[in-house]
Amino acid sequence: MRAVAISLFVFLLVIVATVISFCDGNSNVLCIESERQALLKFKHDLIDETNRLSSWIEGDQEDCCKWVGVLCDNWTGHVYELHLGLLSCRLDKVTTVAERDACYRSMLGGAIPHKLGNLSKLHYLDLGRNYHLEAKTLQWVSGLPSLQYLDLSGVNFSGATDWLQVANKLPSLVELHLSDCINLYNDPSIVSVNYTSLAVLDLSSNSLSAIPTWLFNLPSLVYINLNWNDIGGVIPNGFQNMSSLKFLDLSWNAFSPSSIPRWLYNLNHLQFLGLRSIGLQGNISSAIRNLSSVTHLDLSENMLEGTISNFLDSLCNLREMDLSRNKIHDEVSEIIQSLSKCNLDRLESLNMGVNKLSGHLTDALGRFKNLAYLSLRENFISGPIPFSIGQLGNLEYLDVGNNMLEGNLSEMHFSNLTRLTTFSASNNMLTFKPNSSWIPPFHCVNIDLGNLHLGPQFPQWLQFQKNLSILDISHAGISGVIPTWFWNLSTQYVHLNLSHNQLVGGISYLPVTRLVDLSSNQFTGPLPPVLPSLGYLFLSTNFFSGSLSHFLCISSTKVRSLTILDIGSNLLSGEIPHCWEKWPALDVLKLANNNLTGKIPVSLGSLLSIRLLNLRNNSLFGEVPSAMQQIADLKILDLSENQFSGSVPAWMGENLTGLMVLNLRSNNFHGHIPDKICALHSLQILDLASNNISGAIPKCFSNLSAMATKNKTLWYFANGAIWDSFLSMSYFLDALLFTRGREFDYSTTLVLVTSIDLSANSLRGEISKELGNLVGLMSLNLSRNLLTGKIPENIGNMESLESLDLSMNRLYGEIPSSFSGLNFLNHLNLSYNKLTGQIPLSTQLQSFDMFSYIGNHLCGPPVTKNCSANGATPNVTNAGSKGYKVNGLYVSIVLGFVIGFWAVVAPLFFIRSWRFAYYHKLDDVGRQL
Ligand SMILES: *[C@@H]1O[C@H](CO)[C@@H](O)[C@H](O)[C@H]1NC(C)=O
Ligand SMILES: *[C@@H]1O[C@H](CO)[C@@H](O)[C@H](O)[C@H]1NC(C)=O
Ligand SMILES: *[C@@H]1O[C@H](CO)[C@@H](O)[C@H](O)[C@H]1NC(C)=O
Ligand SMILES: *[C@@H]1O[C@H](CO)[C@@H](O)[C@H](O)[C@H]1NC(C)=O
Ligand SMILES: *[C@@H]1O[C@H](CO)[C@@H](O)[C@H](O)[C@H]1NC(C)=O
Ligand SMILES: *[C@@H]1O[C@H](CO)[C@@H](O)[C@H](O)[C@H]1NC(C)=O
Repeated sequence: MRAVAISLFVFLLVIVATVISFCDGNSNVLCIESERQALLKFKHDLIDETNRLSSWIEGDQEDCCKWVGVLCDNWTGHVYELHLGLLSCRLDKVTTVAERDACYRSMLGGAIPHKLGNLSKLHYLDLGRNYHLEAKTLQWVSGLPSLQYLDLSGVNFSGATDWLQVANKLPSLVELHLSDCINLYNDPSIVSVNYTSLAVLDLSSNSLSAIPTWLFNLPSLVYINLNWNDIGGVIPNGFQNMSSLKFLDLSWNAFSPSSIPRWLYNLNHLQFLGLRSIGLQGNISSAIRNLSSVTHLDLSENMLEGTISNFLDSLCNLREMDLSRNKIHDEVSEIIQSLSKCNLDRLESLNMGVNKLSGHLTDALGRFKNLAYLSLRENFISGPIPFSIGQLGNLEYLDVGNNMLEGNLSEMHFSNLTRLTTFSASNNMLTFKPNSSWIPPFHCVNIDLGNLHLGPQFPQWLQFQKNLSILDISHAGISGVIPTWFWNLSTQYVHLNLSHNQLVGGISYLPVTRLVDLSSNQFTGPLPPVLPSLGYLFLSTNFFSGSLSHFLCISSTKVRSLTILDIGSNLLSGEIPHCWEKWPALDVLKLANNNLTGKIPVSLGSLLSIRLLNLRNNSLFGEVPSAMQQIADLKILDLSENQFSGSVPAWMGENLTGLMVLNLRSNNFHGHIPDKICALHSLQILDLASNNISGAIPKCFSNLSAMATKNKTLWYFANGAIWDSFLSMSYFLDALLFTRGREFDYSTTLVLVTSIDLSANSLRGEISKELGNLVGLMSLNLSRNLLTGKIPENIGNMESLESLDLSMNRLYGEIPSSFSGLNFLNHLNLSYNKLTGQIPLSTQLQSFDMFSYIGNHLCGPPVTKNCSANGATPNVTNAGSKGYKVNGLYVSIVLGFVIGFWAVVAPLFFIRSWRFAYYHKLDDVGRQL
């Protein structure tokens, strides 16, 4: 036995030695001439701007086997593999602009030359991620009968409807990668294929509208990736017979909502299951215990309910689990307990963020030695964070934000977290005040501790964070001056949020590349200069002073990318300077509540993409320059509380056709309201109060269609409203509502508020009955004008009215009986007119006190005068101006919501939801692929 083994060993040694010497001898063999020519022709027909194929040169002595990307068979010299893909240029891997640019330079372009078909022995062809390549036809592929691996990801397939038929002619194909192709659609002509050896099929990120049914008949298939397509309908049960499947990803498709299909639980060889964001609902069945081979489970962004902890002790191979954004309502301790039964050493990533988990975190959490990613964000987890979390020596990402955690965080919680790069605990009732000499063991890139108790001292430990790029320590009770080391940390911040603290002192410059929020502090001195790449700057509600010109006009050759500039509520003075052409990207400009004077410069009209312009409460004067008619995308214009004069410009109606809010309140505008205003079909709020406007209320007000419909929600979404200017996807709006809903609810307020305020002008004539068409109007204030005539009978049609003020006019006649139909009315003021007769009986009208009716000749409850005593003067008590104050307050609350929406929600939106939802999504895509 032993002798046999030894002789076998010797025999093997001889074979190995022979093979090695043979290979050595062979390495000088030139490649096959015809294939060299084919490669050269292939190169010749390609566009290779950066000369990636510079080693592919002509010459008889050239060995094409040594060319970049070419691998030959050691025995025959045939070209065996061609590696020309750009794996590093996958969308999710490219993180910086420089990397992206590098990719676009080095991409091969042009139509894929047919010459490749001459490489008859080719086994491996990777042209993936060369997004400039085009496949006009794939007929040439049939010349490659030995092909086992084909990657044409990212290639433009327009014209190549034959992709499937052709690939069908490759009997040996094992892997087919056609991900993220341009214009790759279903091929309806194909019903069956015969790739008997195909094991890996990647058709992710295309525009497929249905799952190709032919794939259900492929016996060797173990890997199917169909994520990011447009596949609708029910999830087909054809998968149920594919029991050898190991990888199945159907995420991000448009399937109709359903529970997790039963048959799926039978695929017990599955290692990767991706069912993210496909409308799954209902409970997760205990049958999930069958999926015991699963290492990666992604059921996130669905509407799954119930509990999961009972089943986790059967999923003993789990390395990554993502159930985030569902409605799972386990006790978090039971999830930890169940996972710790057999996954302690295996679990690397756990995302249960945005669910309904409750209860306390337990010490067992510290025993998952390999845990690198943990998100429990946005649940209802209470109690303290256990010290054991500090033992997670592999933890890189920790997010427990938006829970109800309480108690103190201490150095102990971080004792072994040497690898931590993301730390978020924001919006809890936690206190974190480590010893000022503490040196953290980690170097975080991303720290989000907003709405925690960190102050009053500025967190000293931050000075050891040399890799910081995103920092949020807003609402943290920090006071005093920002230490100088803070601005000198070796990195450049990308996002920085220090808002809502009590920080003081001046800011000499802002080394931040994308977003800065310093609002609601006590900063003083001039506005700090910013980097040309900055996108969002929030400095409102501070004591910044001086002129704008230094900030806006300092010479910079680079085009500014600033999109949002909010420097409202400061002590800025002087004129608005003429440098707006330097800020072409501005979308939102808020200069409200400062001490600015002078006229609006004509150059403001060069801000063509602006959506929101708020100059409220300054000392600006003159006419509104007609150059502003070019700002066709303006949605919100607030010029109130200044000294603007001239007539209300008719061009606002002609040219600013998307206006949702027009506020000219408290200025010196005079003349008539132009009929053109009625063309503003999106107008939700019109406030012209407290000017010198005369003439009649235009009859055409009934054309203001946003106020004439009750279906405002639909209208708002249909218009994409303001959100499209930032991220153009309702996904992000949903994310905002979803993640922020618990704390702020302004987003729906803009949708709901509709208001007309023309009070305190010199309007004459009658209230036209057309006004009654504004069935969606919620607040109407016409008080303190010179209006006469009767209140139109059809005012009762305005079913949405919550506030109506017609006081201090010359209206006469009776209160129309239709008033009793105004069911939502909660504020009414008809005082000081010449109204007569009985107040109509209704639950609503009698619920107001008599001050709503005072100063008329009305009778019946709630006024004290009894109607039977005809002709007597009602009991007039001087109620002062209570009514106006109430109404004024109401209106400013309404406007406060709208304008506040931008102050409060927009920054939060960018800092939290954007980052977490968007980048996280990309991260996850990356981790999946
Ligand atoms: C050819 O030989 C090299 C080493 O000389 C080896 O790395 C490579 O895998 C071989 N290729 C094939 C196709 O056998
Ligand atoms: C695959 O089927 C096509 C027809 O659908 C046929 O032309 C081709 O020869 C078949 N290939 C193999 C390897 O059987
Ligand atoms: C921290 O990690 C080190 C080495 O990885 C280990 O020896 C030590 O016990 C750990 N400390 C805690 C508190 O887990
Ligand atoms: C506003 O500016 C005027 C001069 O333009 C100045 O007299 C006044 O003091 C300023 N007010 C504040 C609060 O700075
Ligand atoms: C404003 O609208 C009027 C009428 O539609 C049009 O003639 C004019 O060119 C528009 N102005 C601009 C700057 O678009
Ligand atoms: C009103 O909106 C709902 C959805 O919010 C929609 O189903 C309905 O069709 C809309 N009605 C009209 C008249 O647009």
